Amino acid sequence: MNMDNNSKKIVLSGIRPTGQLHLGNYLGALSNFVKMQNEGKYDSYYFIADLHALTTNPDPKELHTNVRHILAEYLAAGLDPEKSTIFVQSDVPEVSEMYLLLNMHVGIGELMRTAAFKDKARKALGITAPNQGDDDEDVAKEIIGASTNKRVNAGLLTYPTLMAVDILIQRADFVPVGKDQEQHLELTRRFARRFNSFYKTEYFTEPQNFNFGSAPVKVPGLDGSGKMGKSEGNCIYLVDEEKVIRKKVMRAVTDGGPTEPNQPMAEPVQNLFTILKLVGTPDKVEYFTEAYNNCSIRYGDLKKEIAEDIVAMTTPIRERILDIENDSAYLHRVLEMGAERARARASKTLADVREIMGITKF
Ligand code: TRP
Repeated sequence: MNMDNNSKKIVLSGIRPTGQLHLGNYLGALSNFVKMQNEGKYDSYYFIADLHALTTNPDPKELHTNVRHILAEYLAAGLDPEKSTIFVQSDVPEVSEMYLLLNMHVGIGELMRTAAFKDKARKALGITAPNQGDDDEDVAKEIIGASTNKRVNAGLLTYPTLMAVDILIQRADFVPVGKDQEQHLELTRRFARRFNSFYKTEYFTEPQNFNFGSAPVKVPGLDGSGKMGKSEGNCIYLVDEEKVIRKKVMRAVTDGGPTEPNQPMAEPVQNLFTILKLVGTPDKVEYFTEAYNNCSIRYGDLKKEIAEDIVAMTTPIRERILDIENDSAYLHRVLEMGAERARARASKTLADVREIMGITKF
């Protein structure tokens, strides 16, 4: 362990506890966190963003259970409390104070123009048509005109401030996140620059996205289009039982099969091949690609292969999740240790920021 080595770059990322993790979260994010941790080159911080989850007003019991799920999934996937700082966002109260301070330099307009905000604001107001109110002005009007019982809460608006604080308070250099979070990361860099220039300091460095090896992995769903998400029949959870996995994969959308040699693949079929590439071996990919190209492929065989490869990948993780999830004493110890380390770094930053902003003792 080399927690105090200041020469190491800091890596930080978080996941919002809104449910159990699926294969898309694992292959797209979590497995990347584990690789970065095990490389030993970085000082890594991985947390559970429970305050961010509050922006969509979850049921309190469910929120607590979801924090436990993600923590167990982090550990089961290989995050190691001896190598990484693993913590819950709300265990670091310094974050909340700095969120207040940083908000003084964040514009309501720029927050309202954030794509994720517009999306969630529309959801909160029950505007479902995809293009209706796409225009910034329309969204703004809808929000201001909303009744008090169908409101867009202020926490949702300031979501990017809180995320920027998560990152800046740990002075992170690299933030491994998916494409959907790039705009938030861009805002973080902008806030850091603005803070530096307003206070004539070079205190904050601008954090960069980082993905181990190559570009972010996008895991497609089983329903024929788009990426793996929580909708019914579209995803495989890490805790899914073997027979559930087989059933879900066998039901994945395909087409009628190729009728001509080397015919281009329809999206749902392409998606299955993408999944096979992520979970299977190259020779299997080659075998089924050839079978597709000479029209001898049987999608049932392809699906069986994919299901078995997923089962092989997730079964050991599932078993560890179930063990760890029931070990409250262990979870408690992990979080206590994580909170202590995360707070040590955060309180140093907060003290500096207070001082820079002129909040100093007499
Ligand atoms: N907004 C991120 C998501 O929805 C979660 C998150 C919160 C985060 N704070 C962060 C990610 C800081 C990286 C760094 O996935």
